[in-house]
Amino acid sequence: MRLEGKVAFITGGGGGIGRATAERFSEEGAKVCIAEIDSKVGQKAAEAAHLKGKNTGGDAFFINTNVSDEESVKNAIKETIKKYGKIDILHNNAGGSTLEDGPVTEAPIEEFWRCINLDLLGTFLCSKFVIPEIIKAGGGSVINMSSNVALMALPGRDCYTAVKGAIASMTRSMAVEYAPNKIRVNAIAPSVTLSDRVKKLLDSSTEIQTISKTHLLGLGEPIHVADLAVYLASEESNITTGQVISVDSGVTIV
Ligand SMILES: NC(=O)c1ccc[n+]([C@@H]2O[C@H](COP(=O)([O-])OP(=O)(O)OC[C@H]3O[C@@H](n4cnc5c(N)ncnc54)[C@H](O)[C@@H]3O)[C@@H](O)[C@H]2O)c1
Repeated sequence: MRLEGKVAFITGGGGGIGRATAERFSEEGAKVCIAEIDSKVGQKAAEAAHLKGKNTGGDAFFINTNVSDEESVKNAIKETIKKYGKIDILHNNAGGSTLEDGPVTEAPIEEFWRCINLDLLGTFLCSKFVIPEIIKAGGGSVINMSSNVALMALPGRDCYTAVKGAIASMTRSMAVEYAPNKIRVNAIAPSVTLSDRVKKLLDSSTEIQTISKTHLLGLGEPIHVADLAVYLASEESNITTGQVISVDSGVTIV
């Protein structure tokens, strides 16, 4: 098992990429905390991930968590330590764009703060309070979630682009800061990946429909991103750090 004996904390693990990652981690022997704001999907994802770990020593549990709220994050970490004793892997996954986004002159200010609070503050808070636990565990891996929008121009989504660019930058500085503690910090930059949320966006967003046509190998599925997360969480990636790695069907090179 590639993640035998490891404990992972996955934010937004109730749906899409986060749920696929929770299932893959458990299948590879990890014990997983699904820190998710939606109790219904969080509970279901934990049950699915728990089943995947039936023969591998993997496990999962759900705890209702708002990654933008300091006390909620601290509570989820406390419960994870109580249940599994440590944390080795942090996957800062909670986030995502909405149809409210737009060019900077048109996007509502509320949408800007929504992105800042969810994607950026969420990544900041979970890193702030989980990394000390990873240090106590003797090192491990932080996997942030950036996006192709941090690597190429995608007009019409300036709030989301701003936070995903910030996460890519923060990934590099965190990698340098925590290397002495044997912590790798990387970010994944997916392009259009068919979570339920993105399937809905695809129906109504002309920007996403246009960019979808330049995916060389078809659109992504959550499992494609989850498989890279397994590599980044496992010791196979022992000297990979500070990288923003695309899982994007070649969309950033055409
Ligand atoms: N799907 C894509 O096309 C795509 C592309 C590039 C990057 N990403 C990034 O990947 C990540 C996951 O995307 P997805 O499409 O799987 O999203 P999703 O909407 O399917 O899943 C995100 C989960 O996060 C949860 N969540 C929302 N707010 C939360 C909060 N405050 N605290 C805790 N949990 C919260 C949601 O309930 C949901 O279950 C996001 O960071 C997104 O920006 C996705």
